[in-house]
Amino acid sequence: MALPHSQRKYDLILFGAAGYTGKLTAEQVLQHTPSSLRWAIAGRSPHKLELLAADLDRRFPDRVPVGIFIADLDEDALEKMARATRCLISTVGPFIRYGTAVVEACAVNGTHYVDSTGEITWVKEIVDKYHKTAKVNGAIMIPQCGMESAPADLAAHTLVKSMRDSYNCPVGDVTLCLHELKAGMSGGTLESGMSLLEHSTLQEVVHATRTYALSPVRGYDLPFAWPMRRHPELGILTKWIQAVPDTVYVYRSWGTFDRGQYYGENFNFMEYRRANNWISAVFWFLMMCSITVLPIFAPFRWLARKLIQPGEGPTAEQMAKYRIEYRGVAEADDDSETPKKVFVKLTYEKDPYTCTGALMVQVAMSILFDEDIQAKKLGCGILTAATVATPEFYRNLDRTGFHIETKLL
Ligand SMILES: NC(=O)c1ccc[n+]([C@@H]2O[C@H](COP(=O)([O-])OP(=O)(O)OC[C@H]3O[C@@H](n4cnc5c(N)ncnc54)[C@H](OP(=O)(O)O)[C@@H]3O)[C@@H](O)[C@H]2O)c1
Repeated sequence: MALPHSQRKYDLILFGAAGYTGKLTAEQVLQHTPSSLRWAIAGRSPHKLELLAADLDRRFPDRVPVGIFIADLDEDALEKMARATRCLISTVGPFIRYGTAVVEACAVNGTHYVDSTGEITWVKEIVDKYHKTAKVNGAIMIPQCGMESAPADLAAHTLVKSMRDSYNCPVGDVTLCLHELKAGMSGGTLESGMSLLEHSTLQEVVHATRTYALSPVRGYDLPFAWPMRRHPELGILTKWIQAVPDTVYVYRSWGTFDRGQYYGENFNFMEYRRANNWISAVFWFLMMCSITVLPIFAPFRWLARKLIQPGEGPTAEQMAKYRIEYRGVAEADDDSETPKKVFVKLTYEKDPYTCTGALMVQVAMSILFDEDIQAKKLGCGILTAATVATPEFYRNLDRTGFHIETKLL
C-alpha cells in the first residue's frame, strides 16, 4: 500500500545526481526552491554522492546540508527510495535501459515523478503500462520534461491560453521555431540516442512517432506540412530533429485538456528550426536527415561513442556562451479571412542542460506545492509539463531565467 505523503522523509529526491545533468539539477534545487524543502541526492555511488554533497554544502552554506540516499536499480532499493520521498526527479539514463523499474516503483507507491528523457519509444511504453497505476495511486508523473519536450509544450500551451483568454477562440495552426540554439551535447544524451535505436524495433519507433501516439484521444489526420517553408512572422524555416518527439508530446497535452476541445479540434502543431537563408535551410535539412539516419548503422554508433563518454559534457566556460530562443505563432480557428494571431517568445540565456534542470525542478515544485494545477484536477497519472503550468509556475520559472512573453499580432 502507498505510504501517506505526510510520513515520507523527503519532499524531493534527485536520482542520478552525480551525472552531468544531475549535478546541474542539484544546483537548481539549491538556487530556486524554498529553503524549507526536505531533499536528498541519490545514486549508486556513495563516493560520488559524498563528494557532490560536500561541494554543494560548501557552495550553498545557507541551505540545510543535503541528504544522501544510496540506490541502484535493484527492486528493493527502488521501492525504499520511492517510499522515502513525495517526488522523485530522475536523470538516470538511458531511460530505455534503466528507467522502467524507477517509473514502476513510483507509480505503485504513489510517488510523484519527473524526468529528463527524450526517448520517445520508452515514453510510449511507460504511458501504456503505468498511466492507470499512477492514477490509482495518486502519482503525478511528468516524463520528457527537459529541453525535450517542455519548452515546446509550454509554448503551445501558452499560445492556446493566450488565444482563449484574449479572444475565446480555439487554435488552428501553430508554428514553433527554434530561433537560436547555442549548445553542446553530453555523453549521456549521445548514449541515450544510440540506446533508443538499439533497444527499439522499427515498428516501435514508427508507433511512437505518430502524431497521436501519446494522446488519450485521436484527432483528425493533419494536412501535409512542408519540411522547409517561409513563415510571414518567423522567416525561413527548416527541419529540426526535436520536432517529432516535441509534437507527439504536445498532442498528449492537446488530448488531455478537455479531449482536444480546449486547444481546438483543428489544432495543427508544426515545429521547425530557423534558417538565415534558403542555402542554410537546405544545409540544415540535410544535416538533420543525416543525424536521423546515420545512427541506424552500427559503425557510426561505435564512432560516435568514442567522441564523448557518459558523465561528460560541455565545460562551464563553453556553457557560459550558450543560449536558447524559441518563437512561435498561433492562428485562431475562426474561419475569418485574416485570422487573429498570437506570438510567443521563450528565452533562456544559459545552456540546455541547466535549462533541463530548471524545468524539472520547477515542475516538481508545482506538483508538490501548487494545488491549482490541472494535473491534480485530472486525477493524476502520466501527464505533461503543460498540466502543471499555472501563473505561479511561470513566475517561478521566470526567476530561474526562463522567460516567456506573448503578444497579440
Ligand atoms: N532530452 C533532453 O532534453 C535531455 C537533457 C538533458 C539530459 N537528458 C537525458 O538525461 C539522461 C542523463 O544525461 P546525462 O548527460 O546527465 O548522463 P550521465 O552524465 O551519463 O548521467 C547518468 C546518470 O545515471 C546514473 N546511472 C547510470 N546507470 C545507473 C545504474 N545502473 N544505477 C544507478 N544509476 C545509474 C549515473 O550514475 P554514476 O554517476 O554512478 O555513473 C549518472 O548519475 C540521459 O538519458 C539524457 O539523454 C535529456
